[in-house]
Amino acid sequence: MSKLWGGRFTCGTDKAVDDFNSSIRFDQRLYRHDIMGSVAHAEMLGKTGVIALEDSKAICKALKEVLDDIDAGKVEFRIDAEDIHMNVETLLIEKIGAAGKRLHTGRSRNDQVALDIRMYLKDEIIEIMTDLKRLLGVILSVAEKHSDTILPGYTHLQRAQPITLSHHVMAYYQMFKRDCERLADCYDRTNIMPLGSGALAGTTYPLDRDYVAKRLGFEGVTQNSLDGVSDRDFAAEFLFCTSMIMMHLSRFSEEMVLWSSLEFAFVEMDDAYSTGSSIMPQKKNPDVAELVRGKTGRVYGDLMGLLTVMKGLPLAYNKDMQEDKESAFDAIDTVKMCLPVFTDMLATCTFRKENMYKAATRGFTNATDFADYLVKHGVPFRQAHEITGKLVLECLGKGVAIEELELSELRDICSQCLTEDQSAEALIGEDVYEEISLMKCVSGRTLTGGPAPETVLASVAKEKAALDAVNVPEKLTDTFVF
Ligand code: ARG
Repeated sequence: MSKLWGGRFTCGTDKAVDDFNSSIRFDQRLYRHDIMGSVAHAEMLGKTGVIALEDSKAICKALKEVLDDIDAGKVEFRIDAEDIHMNVETLLIEKIGAAGKRLHTGRSRNDQVALDIRMYLKDEIIEIMTDLKRLLGVILSVAEKHSDTILPGYTHLQRAQPITLSHHVMAYYQMFKRDCERLADCYDRTNIMPLGSGALAGTTYPLDRDYVAKRLGFEGVTQNSLDGVSDRDFAAEFLFCTSMIMMHLSRFSEEMVLWSSLEFAFVEMDDAYSTGSSIMPQKKNPDVAELVRGKTGRVYGDLMGLLTVMKGLPLAYNKDMQEDKESAFDAIDTVKMCLPVFTDMLATCTFRKENMYKAATRGFTNATDFADYLVKHGVPFRQAHEITGKLVLECLGKGVAIEELELSELRDICSQCLTEDQSAEALIGEDVYEEISLMKCVSGRTLTGGPAPETVLASVAKEKAALDAVNVPEKLTDTFVF
């Protein structure tokens, strides 16, 4: 087949160059968006009188037929037609001849591909936001159920202070909520229409850029033709957003892996979300969580790949930029695979409340509260810290928890660190046991953002209402009328 751009060439391209240059293998997934973009462009060419109205109508009708043919699996894309844009144009010309050859008036593949990726990413952002919303909903239902499920909170992976499972999972809620907001921001910056930038220098045809933007659901048009064809910031930003989602999924996954070990035994994955070993009959492995953690690396790679492709490119379009698509597609596929499977794994797992509670009773997770108890009775915090540290040391020697000491023992040990004007009897009363009970340690922390059940449940209720009110935009592929 002769090339759509073959005029100035004296021979065809080498077969190896066709293979090397062609992007149809991977950019064919843009076909629907490419065709919608072409329909809007053709309508506009007809309305502005740049081409005859009958030609415009014939083009739009035939483009819809091309779309139906592709949908029906009747089309075999051609490597020698290079990319999705020229494949569609070739199919169009095959259908209607001369009129089809008028479609590319005032347009370049450079602004066309910029348009297609923006349209495609917008729809994918909506799908990912929808997946995120479902995950957020599942986190809220776990949080609602476990507002008084106590477990140790950790720092340095050492037991630190008691918290609740609700509080723990709501930390992830905040992360994924920000991820959703980040995607919404990215959507806004992607939502700008580049057609009319031409190859790089705009065009002399009186195109109606605003019409095309409106027809395709864009908020506005790009403001510089060089930037319009060279900008891939929105794609890099999208890859950052997906990397961040993966990072959060990966941290959550890491905890699920740890928690499902016998050492923790905080969680039991549903059998449907676990796998076995080909040699060890007893094994039940958290493969889903591990794979999500592992796949995070490829999405980071996608981000680094695109940033590196772009870093040395002079203005405006360069063929290097064809490499943007595989990164974006890979990140989309990966995130869209990970989010639902992780969500279902979380929705079906069983939390071992007793083991969580037991773990919180060991490791002196109430030591800070013991120090705070002394502070409330007038001891300076630094001294209270010292006293409690000594107490922990004694307890370690005896193999007991603070609350397992008799009041007299408690007072004796503490009095070693008191000044002459302080008395252990005055400072430490019978109420200390209640004050350092795990539930009290948790329920006393009622500041905004704290783990007290009432505080967390209030936050869950607030977030639930906000989540219901989140309006994810509609996909262009669902709303576009041909
Ligand atoms: N397939 C190309 C890409 O993805 C389309 C733009 C090609 N433009 C050009 N002047 N060769 O970037």
